[in-house]
Amino acid sequence: MVEHSLDVGRARGSSPLPRTNKMIILGIETSCDETALSLLETKEEVGIFKYRILANIVHSQIDMHKEYGGVYPNLAKREHIKNLPVIFNKIIKEANIEEKDISSIVVTSGPGLEPALWTGINFAQELGKKIGVQIIPANHMEGHIVSVLFSNTKPSGDFKELKVIKFPALAILISGGHTEIVKVKRIGEYEVLGRTRDDALGEAFDKTARMLGLPYPGGPEIAKLALLNSKKDKSISLPRPMLNSNDLDFSFSGLKTSILYLIKKKEELTEDDKREIAEEFQDAVTEVLIKKTGKALDGDEYKSIIVGGGVIANSHIRKAFEDLSSEYSIPLYLPEKNLTGDNALMIALAGILSPKTKDPQSIEALGNLLLG
Ligand code: KG4
Ligand code: ZN
Repeated sequence: MVEHSLDVGRARGSSPLPRTNKMIILGIETSCDETALSLLETKEEVGIFKYRILANIVHSQIDMHKEYGGVYPNLAKREHIKNLPVIFNKIIKEANIEEKDISSIVVTSGPGLEPALWTGINFAQELGKKIGVQIIPANHMEGHIVSVLFSNTKPSGDFKELKVIKFPALAILISGGHTEIVKVKRIGEYEVLGRTRDDALGEAFDKTARMLGLPYPGGPEIAKLALLNSKKDKSISLPRPMLNSNDLDFSFSGLKTSILYLIKKKEELTEDDKREIAEEFQDAVTEVLIKKTGKALDGDEYKSIIVGGGVIANSHIRKAFEDLSSEYSIPLYLPEKNLTGDNALMIALAGILSPKTKDPQSIEALGNLLLG
């Protein structure tokens, strides 16, 4: 068994994978609108865990869901079923391996859209049976946490070490479906300290974008628009929901109503207005996010800060976390830009570092699977 220099630890009740010297792990992610597959090779060298990426494909269905202004679960399911075998053949070719070289399969079992999750699980079950390997279910949010450990995310010939992180770490998870503040005692051992009471942060970006007439997904659109705002004097001001509440929870749905009210008040929504709203929205959510993270850091001893999930692609939010990390002198770990969104590398890694062994046929999609 590999004792990694990283204090990865192990979830209680989970049994470690049989770690032969070299293993090839197939990662499968279908929790939302991305069909993602990866092949990750791992090995142990003088007691140190090393990895190299053999293949990593993320196939986005965004263009198909755009017309619905969000993700349409049954369409996602149909697309995943169509894409999975095609992408699987592609990564096998890219990695220059054969199916039988795969040592184990890690598949997202939740949280996410259940019809979408089932497609990945069923694919894993069939393949696992065919090639006779174990299937490990992974928690998508744990994937976002471990996504920050990769330093090299391009398929290359070299084995690399994972980033070494000190624990306990404070993880802030900001995606389209979740917003959570989590104490990471070790990889595999979590305590959720706070979460959104209504909309997730990415969802708030998406809804704001829709009100401004921007396409889905709205996060990158809002970020672009905010950068274009050149107004020096602020003419609008949005609330900072739950900024001073006594807990680590969030609420973003009220912002929607405030923006709707602002838009209704205007006779005509100009491009300048849209830019100003985009920037003010981004400032408002960033302020809440940073204040709550600071509050969590004040409440306990943390040795690292981790931020994961699609929204951390946002440069303004990245910079705000970098400043917070300097202020507290606690190192910050962010995913590389191509691993902020959903991908199967983070799923493969979550399965290796925190394996939950199960009878393959008993693995099921758990739409509301919690961390912990
Ligand atoms: O983690 P992710 O890829 O999927 C889920 O697990 O939900 O996150 C997707 C979310 C979407 O809501 C999208 O609008 C948001 O991440 N997002 C961003 C940016 N890029 C993606 N939000 C703000 N700024 C961005 N640059
Ligand atoms: Zn995600």
